[in-house]
Amino acid sequence: MLQFLQISLLFIFPAVVLGLNSDGLSLLALKAAIETDPSGGFNGYIPSELGHLDSLKRLNLASNNFSKPIPARLFNATSLIALDLSRNSLSGPVPAQIGALKDLRHLDLSSNLLNGSLPESLTELDSLVGTLNLSYNIFSGGVPASYGRLPVLVSLDLRHNNLTGKLPQVGSLVNQGPTAFSGNPSLCGFPLEIPCGSSEPIEKRSRGSPKPCRPEPHFAQWG
Ligand SMILES: *[C@@H]1O[C@H](CO)[C@@H](O)[C@H](O)[C@H]1NC(C)=O
Ligand SMILES: *[C@@H]1O[C@H](CO)[C@@H](O)[C@H](O)[C@H]1NC(C)=O
Ligand SMILES: *[C@@H]1O[C@H](CO)[C@@H](O)[C@H](O)[C@H]1NC(C)=O
Ligand SMILES: *[C@@H]1O[C@H](CO)[C@@H](O)[C@H](O)[C@H]1NC(C)=O
Ligand SMILES: *[C@@H]1O[C@H](CO)[C@@H](O)[C@H](O)[C@H]1NC(C)=O
Repeated sequence: MLQFLQISLLFIFPAVVLGLNSDGLSLLALKAAIETDPSGGFNGYIPSELGHLDSLKRLNLASNNFSKPIPARLFNATSLIALDLSRNSLSGPVPAQIGALKDLRHLDLSSNLLNGSLPESLTELDSLVGTLNLSYNIFSGGVPASYGRLPVLVSLDLRHNNLTGKLPQVGSLVNQGPTAFSGNPSLCGFPLEIPCGSSEPIEKRSRGSPKPCRPEPHFAQWG
């Protein structure tokens, strides 16, 4: 059973050595989804058939310029413990079905064109450790207070998105350093040195953050 799949620009596709079991058919779907461009780069999409690889433990498709949205059915591959889709051109939202990956320890979706709100279903990934890297995308909206439920062993990298509002001070979110959130010009509150002004949109109240917002100091120039 296929347990490891890493595709890189230098990968020579070994379709001929695969038997046509379901793993082989899933890989043929991947081959069909990949168009090699004249400069040698891949320029395709991630086929949902990869979700049939139910023994797949590690999938690394980083740095390949795959585009289009991430197919929800990819997350039928529930044996995954490491998923790296970073440095592509993936767009659209992260499907909520990612929460099905109960064994997933490492997730890197950085440097894509992913948008929509930060997926709350990531808090269902109970096995995560290390960096949860969502940086360099175009995620918008607030940082969900539910992210405070992420294990303390997880360090967030949410840099360089389009996130807005006040950072919730709950659970493990309290332990994230300012660098986890930098490069989001409309994000405010501790640990960022950007105070939340009154012009900020009023955040949705969430169960996780009962504390009222303390008025933030203003850095006005006097005199
Ligand atoms: C990457 O993919 C995008 C969208 O398909 C395309 O516009 C761009 O030219 C590609 N870049 C490279 C280096 O292949
Ligand atoms: C695969 O995932 C889709 C959407 O997440 C779901 O509807 C479907 O039942 C799943 N199929 C299998 C075989 O698990
Ligand atoms: C997250 O991904 C970005 C871009 O892919 C990378 O530069 C950065 O080092 C990663 N963050 C961490 C903490 O590894
Ligand atoms: C996300 O990007 C797609 C295009 O890739 C766009 O159609 C959609 O409106 C965007 N959604 C949000 C919430 O920005
Ligand atoms: C960032 O979000 C604002 C609204 O909050 C929107 O007007 C703007 O177009 C977004 N920027 C990008 C690059 O998506």
